[in-house]
Amino acid sequence: MNTHPALQPGYLGTLALRNRIIKTATYEGMSPGGLIDDALIRHHTELARGGVGMTTVAYCAVSPDGRTFAEQLQMSDANLPMFRRLTDTVHAAGAAVSLQLGHCGGFSKNKELVGKRPYGPSTHLNEYGLFSGLLRTRAMSVADMERTAEEFAAAALHAKECGFDAIEVHLGHGYLLSQFLSPKINKRRDEYGGSLENRMRFPLQVVAAVRERVGPHFPVIAKTNLADGVRGGLQIDDAVEIARTLERSGVTALIMSGGLVAKSALYLLRGGRPLREMIEVEKNPAQRLALRVFGPSVVKKVEFEELFFLPMARQVRAAVSMPLILLGGAISGDNLSTAMDEGFEFVAMGRALLADPDFVRRLEDDPHFRTRCNQCNKCIAEMDRGGVRCVL
Ligand SMILES: Cc1cc2nc3c(=O)[nH]c(=O)nc-3n(C[C@H](O)[C@H](O)[C@H](O)COP(=O)(O)O)c2cc1C
Repeated sequence: MNTHPALQPGYLGTLALRNRIIKTATYEGMSPGGLIDDALIRHHTELARGGVGMTTVAYCAVSPDGRTFAEQLQMSDANLPMFRRLTDTVHAAGAAVSLQLGHCGGFSKNKELVGKRPYGPSTHLNEYGLFSGLLRTRAMSVADMERTAEEFAAAALHAKECGFDAIEVHLGHGYLLSQFLSPKINKRRDEYGGSLENRMRFPLQVVAAVRERVGPHFPVIAKTNLADGVRGGLQIDDAVEIARTLERSGVTALIMSGGLVAKSALYLLRGGRPLREMIEVEKNPAQRLALRVFGPSVVKKVEFEELFFLPMARQVRAAVSMPLILLGGAISGDNLSTAMDEGFEFVAMGRALLADPDFVRRLEDDPHFRTRCNQCNKCIAEMDRGGVRCVL
C-alpha cells in the first residue's frame, strides 16, 4: 500500500479533504462574456476525477468593477445555476471545491471602466490599462471601501449557497487587497496607508465582512504574498505579521504566494518567459507592439526552483498554527513529502496539475511520481486561446 503522507486525509477547519493536494487557482478563460461555459465544469471535473482533495475555481470578480478585463468571470445571478452544477459535478467526482474571490482594484484594462477610472488605494499610473484608455487609477473613498467589502461578503455567501466548500479571498498578486498591503502601491496618507497596521485595515475589513456573512465555521482561505518581488514592495517580515493578524481574524487557512502580476509576473511562476505566445494572443494592437518592444525588459526572467517559496513560507510556519498551504514549484511526490515533513498541512499545485490532471492517481502508483510540466509557462497564453491547458 502507498502510504505517501500527502495521500492522507486532512482538515481545513471543519472541512475534511480526502488528501493534502489542492489544485490552486489558474485562471481558466472558460467564461466568454463573463458567463460560465460547460468547459469550466469539465475542467474541474477532470481534476476531481484525477484525485485532488480540492480544486479551486480561479479568479471570480466580486463585482463588475472588480474585473481585470471585461470577459473575466464575475459573481452574477446569471452564473449561479452553473456554479451550482459545477459544485454538484465536482462533488460527485469525490473532490471538494473552492472559489477564489477577487477585486482587481486599479489593475484593470476593462474598457467598461473608461470615464469611471479603476480605483485602488491611491492615484497612480496604470501601466496595465494604458492601451485601453485607463491611464490612471483613483483613490478609493471610505464609502468605496464599505461597498467593496459588502461585495466580497455577498459574493462569499452566494458561493456558499451554490455549494462551494470554501472560498479563497485573494490578497495577493497585486489585486485590490494586495494593492492596499503593498507599500509600493499604497501611498495613502490617511488611516488606510503608511504603517502596516494602516495598510492592513481595509483588507481586514473585507475578511471580517466575509467571515460575518458566511458564519463562523465555513472555510475562508486567504491567499497572500510572502513578498511582492519588487523593490519597495511588501517583504517577508510584513507578510509574517499579516499571517499572524489573519489568523486572529478568523481566517481558516493561508495559501502563500508572491509577486505582482503587473510588475513581477514571473516571480510568482518562475521558469520560461513565453513572450512570443503572449504577443500572439494579445488582441489590442498597441499593447501587442508595446509587448514586442518593452516585453523583454519589463517581463523579467526568474529562474525556476522546486518549492521556490519554501524558505519564506517556513518563517510563516514558525509564526502561526492555522493550516498552511504551501504553493509554488511542487512538481513531484518527493516535493510533497518535503512539504509535509516541514509541517505544511496542504500543498497547492498549479502547472503540474494542468500538465497531469491525474497527478494524484499517478502518485498512488508511484510515490516519487514527477510531472511532465517543464515550466515553459506557455499555459499562460492558452487562457486567451480558448481555455487554459498544458501545451505539451
Ligand atoms: C495559467 C495560469 C493562470 C493563473 N491564474 C491565477 C489566478 O487566477 N489566480 C491566482 O491566484 N493565481 C493564478 N496563477 C498562479 C498560480 O496560482 C500559482 O501561484 C503558480 O502557478 C505557481 O504554482 P505552481 O508552481 O504550482 O504552478 C496562475 C498561474 C498560471 C500558470
